[in-house]
Amino acid sequence: MKTILVTGGAGFIGSNFIRMLLAETTGYDILNADSLTYAGNLENLADITDDPRYSFIKADISDPVSMEAVFNLGPLWAVVNFAAESHVDRSIADPGVFVRTNVLGTQLVLDLSRRYGVERFQQVSTDEVYGSLGATGRFTEETPLAPNSPYAASKAAADLLCRAAYKTFQQPVLVTRCSNNYGPWQFPEKLIPLMIANALEDKPLPVYGQGENVRDWLQVEDHCRAILQVLEQGEPGRIYNVGGDNEWRNIDIVRLILHELDKPESLIRFVKDRPGHDQRYAIDSTRLQEELGWRPRQDFTSGIRATITWYRKQVAWLAHMRDGSYRDYYEHQYGKV
Ligand code: NAD
Ligand code: DAU
Repeated sequence: MKTILVTGGAGFIGSNFIRMLLAETTGYDILNADSLTYAGNLENLADITDDPRYSFIKADISDPVSMEAVFNLGPLWAVVNFAAESHVDRSIADPGVFVRTNVLGTQLVLDLSRRYGVERFQQVSTDEVYGSLGATGRFTEETPLAPNSPYAASKAAADLLCRAAYKTFQQPVLVTRCSNNYGPWQFPEKLIPLMIANALEDKPLPVYGQGENVRDWLQVEDHCRAILQVLEQGEPGRIYNVGGDNEWRNIDIVRLILHELDKPESLIRFVKDRPGHDQRYAIDSTRLQEELGWRPRQDFTSGIRATITWYRKQVAWLAHMRDGSYRDYYEHQYGKV
């Protein structure tokens, strides 16, 4: 058995990744290290907690003492670094913690991985490092980095630290840059779960600007499969874009959700735009497709329907996620909307 350290495994994509590893592979033990911020929730993993191949340790990736303790639980074959502050709006309100976790935390995990002889280090990055597109074109791995939000800048910094680790120390580092994910267990501050949760309660749906911004949506399991494939077969030092070839204007996604839930469009509220709002993301994942044979499996129409149905059934989980500090966040972000 090889052990994979998954950082940030109690969040949206990390928990889906762990579930997929347990369901679809047999050769890995999984150690999940997560500091359980507002976005990390062990309920996301309740169904697999007792699996003998899985264990959890509470640890902050920017804290050297806790992380040394994590690495001492090894030997670790690989590290997949999901742990991050991940929400653009929060990075606008409070950038400091994004630098601490996303930049300093990544450097610490890189350093420890090198010191402990970890054979594969995978950084889970984002298409946001490339900045914003106009009406045409797609991001390739050669597109220059031009991050616009503090979140995107912190992720770009982490990518460059990964590059430096590879170039300077020949550390076996891989980077994936993915577009917007949707699916189960996404914290309801992000567009799709937020709109579903509000619509279910007949609350207003806050759309930034005119809702004309475009995102490329990929089902989270397709992203997880891409990560596993790159981890197992990717070439160290290489970057792999991951995308769904599935562009949607925000307003059309919001209308689709309302339609699926049989709710009126009068719930839509156009609100003040996000500062520095990236206009359009579109990602070219030819490299991943041609070199590693990855393809998205989930078609969007059925994927988004299944996602809406999933959130509809998660009344208790949604209520828990939207309790306490979420209310303060919501009021600060959206005021009286
Ligand atoms: P998320 O916010 O749902 O989860 C982040 C997890 O990291 C949480 O469990 C949180 O507790 C944990 N965490 C935060 N700070 C930590 C710290 N200092 N130490 C240890 N754990 C910490 O995020 P997500 O949407 O699952 O994103 C996971 C990764 O994928 C991030 O690196 C993000 O940049 C990247 N990504 C996300 C998307 C997307 O659409 N959501 C797309 C591309 C890339
Ligand atoms: O592209 C990958 C990125 O996708 C990841 O790196 C980030 O971690 C992830 O959060 C996501 O970033 P976005 O900023 O694109 O996602 P978000 O769900 O916050 O917003 C999607 C779009 O919807 C964006 O154009 C802003 C808009 N929006 C969002 C919210 C929360 C609204 O119009 N209203 C809202 O209330």
